Amino acid sequence: MPDNQTPAGIESVLQENRVFPPPKAFAQAAHIKSLAQYKKLYQESVKAPDKFWAKQAKAELVWFKPWKKVLQWREPFAQWFVGGQLNVSYNCLDRHLGTPTANQAALIWEGEPAAPGKPGEERTLTYKQLHHEVCRFANVLKRNGVKKGDRVLIYLPMVPEAAMAMLACARIGAVHSVVFGGFSAQSVADRIQDCQARLVVTADGGYRRGAIVPLKQNVDEALTLKGPDGQLLARSIEKVIVVRRAQNEVSMQAGRDVWWHEEMAQVSADCPAEKMDSEAPLFILYTSGSTGKPKGILHTTAGYLLYVRMTSRLVFDLRPEDIYWCTADVGWVTGHSYVVYGPLANGATSLMYEGAPNDPEPDRFWRIIAKYGVTILYTAPTAIRAFMKWGVEWPRKHDLSSLRLLGTVGEPINPEAWMWYHKHIGGKRCPIVDTWWQTETGGIMITPLPGATPTKPGSATLPFFGIVPEVVDDRGRVVPRNSGGKLVVRKPWPSMLRGLWGDPERYKSVYWTEVPHSYFTGDGCRQDKDGYFWIVGRIDDVLNVAGHRIGTAEVESALVSHQQVAEAAVVGRPDDLKGQALVAFVTLKSGVNADGALRDALRQHVAREIGPVAKPDDIRFAEALPKTRSGKIMRRLLKQIAAGTEIKGDTTTLEDLNVLARLAGTEE
Ligand code: WTA
Repeated sequence: MPDNQTPAGIESVLQENRVFPPPKAFAQAAHIKSLAQYKKLYQESVKAPDKFWAKQAKAELVWFKPWKKVLQWREPFAQWFVGGQLNVSYNCLDRHLGTPTANQAALIWEGEPAAPGKPGEERTLTYKQLHHEVCRFANVLKRNGVKKGDRVLIYLPMVPEAAMAMLACARIGAVHSVVFGGFSAQSVADRIQDCQARLVVTADGGYRRGAIVPLKQNVDEALTLKGPDGQLLARSIEKVIVVRRAQNEVSMQAGRDVWWHEEMAQVSADCPAEKMDSEAPLFILYTSGSTGKPKGILHTTAGYLLYVRMTSRLVFDLRPEDIYWCTADVGWVTGHSYVVYGPLANGATSLMYEGAPNDPEPDRFWRIIAKYGVTILYTAPTAIRAFMKWGVEWPRKHDLSSLRLLGTVGEPINPEAWMWYHKHIGGKRCPIVDTWWQTETGGIMITPLPGATPTKPGSATLPFFGIVPEVVDDRGRVVPRNSGGKLVVRKPWPSMLRGLWGDPERYKSVYWTEVPHSYFTGDGCRQDKDGYFWIVGRIDDVLNVAGHRIGTAEVESALVSHQQVAEAAVVGRPDDLKGQALVAFVTLKSGVNADGALRDALRQHVAREIGPVAKPDDIRFAEALPKTRSGKIMRRLLKQIAAGTEIKGDTTTLEDLNVLARLAGTEE
C-alpha cells in the first residue's frame, strides 16, 4: 500500500498551507471572540449535550409550553424537546412585534428586471408588515380547506410570497414542501403524490433572464399526469392558489384555482399561531438519492428552529444593522434555513433576489451589494468560479466596502476560488465561512466561526456546537489524521432529519447501515493535524484509478488552479487497464485557446499539483458544464458522456440543455 493510501482507501492529496486568522477588530466585536472561547463551549456542548441544548432552547426560543425531555434517542429515531409546544412562525415574526425590530426590514426583495433595460423591482417588508401578510395568507389557507398536518406544495419563483407561504403553513401547522421553480411538471406530480399534498401555491409565471417560466401551466400539466396504475398522480390536490407575477396568460379552473390577491382581499389579518408540538413536521424537502426516486427529507419544529437560529447568528455573526444576503433559492434547503427561518428567527434583514447573477450583466450581484449596502454575502463556489471567469472588472466597477463577512456552501471550494473571493470580493478584510452541511442535516455542521476560527482556503474547518463528526474507515474506525475516509456524525443533533417521508426503512438503510451507530453523510473527508475537516466530495465521486482512490474534487481543484482554467469537472470512465480512467471536462477563461499544447500543459499541471496518478487521461474542452439549477455539476451525465453511452435519466434540472448537446457532440 503506498504511503498516502489509508485504511479506508480514500486518498486526500490536496496540500494547502495558508492560514488566515480572524481580523482583530472583527474578533473583538464578534459573538464568539476567540478559538479558546469556541473550544470551551464546544467541550461543554459535547460533554453534557442535554444540559447545553436545554440552556440554549430556553434562551433562544419562545415556548407556549416547556418541554419535559431534551432528547429521546431510539437509534436512528430522535425526538427533541419532547412534550414542548411552540410555533415557528411565532418565533420568526410575533416575537419581534413590540420590539424595535418590528419596524425593521425583515425581507428586502430585488426582482428580476421585467424587460431588458428595465431596473429590477424592489419591495421591502418590515417585520410588522410581513406578520400582517403571513396572518392573512394563513387565513387564506384555512379558507381553502387546509388543516393542521395537511401538506401544501409550494412552487414559486424567488418572490416574497414564497417566504409568506412557508411561514403561513408553519403558522397553522400545515407541512410545506417547496419544489424549486426549475423542476418539471413530472417532478411536481411525483412530489405531490409522495406527500399527498392537498393544495398547491404557485404563480402564473416566473422570470428567468427575461424569459417566462410557465409555472401555472406546469402545475396544470402535473395535475393531468398519470402513474403506471393509470390513476392521476396528483389526485390529492383540491385547490391551487396562484400569485400574479409575470402577467402571462393562464387558465383558471373554476372551483379549483383561485388568485392569491383575490383571496387575500377576503380575509382578516387575525390569525393566532397554532400551538405545535416540538416534533410536529415543519417541512418535507425532496432531494435526489443514488436511485432515481427522490427522498422526502423530513424536518420538524423545535430542534430545527433552535439550530438554524443559533447557526445563523453565530456563523454569520448576525447583528441588527446587518443587510444579510444568501443567494440560494427557497427551493433548496439553504433557502429554507438561511434565507427564511434562521435570519427571521434572529430578527435580521434578509435580502432575496429573484434573478440570475449575470442578468442583465455579469455585475448584477455587485450592483445589488452596492445598492443596499449588503454586509454579509453567502453564496456557492460554483457562482464564485463563474465570477472569476467573467473577470475582476465586473466587481471592480462597484463599491463593495459595506461587506464584512463572506460565506460559501454546497460543494468544496477550491483554494484558488477561495483566494479570489477573499481578494476581489472581500477586499482581503472579510473572513470567509466555508460551511459544510446537507439537506439532511437541516443546518450548518462544520464551519468556521468568523471571529474565532483561523481559516484555511478549502477547509470547512471545525464542527459547530454539539456536532461530533469523525472520519472513519469501512468498519467505522477513526482513521489517522491526514488520511481520507468517510465522514460520519456520531451523535444526534437538534436539526437532523427525522426520516424520509413515509419510508422509515429507506431512512435506516441510506443513512444508518453504512457505518454502525453513526449517521453516514455520503461524503469523503480528511482531518488535518489541527483537526480541520477537508471535504473531498461525495463518495460516489471518488474514483478508483489503478488501485488508487482519488477525489474528483481534488483533481478539479488542481485544474482550476491553472491560470487559464475557469472551471473543471472530473469523472471516471471504465478503463480496461486501470479500472477507471479520469476524464476532465474543462472550461477556459475568456480569450484562451483550446489546443493540444494546453491539454498537455494541464495534464502536467495536475501531475505537479497532485501526482502523476491523478493526471487526467482525457481532457475535453467545453464552453460550459451542465449544471442543476442549484449549481451542482451533473456528474452522472458527464460520466455517460465520458463513457460514450447514451444520455439517460432526468435532465429537467439542467441549467442549459444546449451545453449537454454540445458536450456530447449531438448538437446540429
Ligand atoms: C456538499 C447543501 C464541501 C457535500 C447545503 C454535501 C459541501 C452536499 C459543502 C449536500 C462544503 C455542501 N464543502 N462540500 N462547504 N457544503 N457540500 O443537500 O457533498 O444540496 O453532502 O445541501 O453538498 O448538498 P445539499
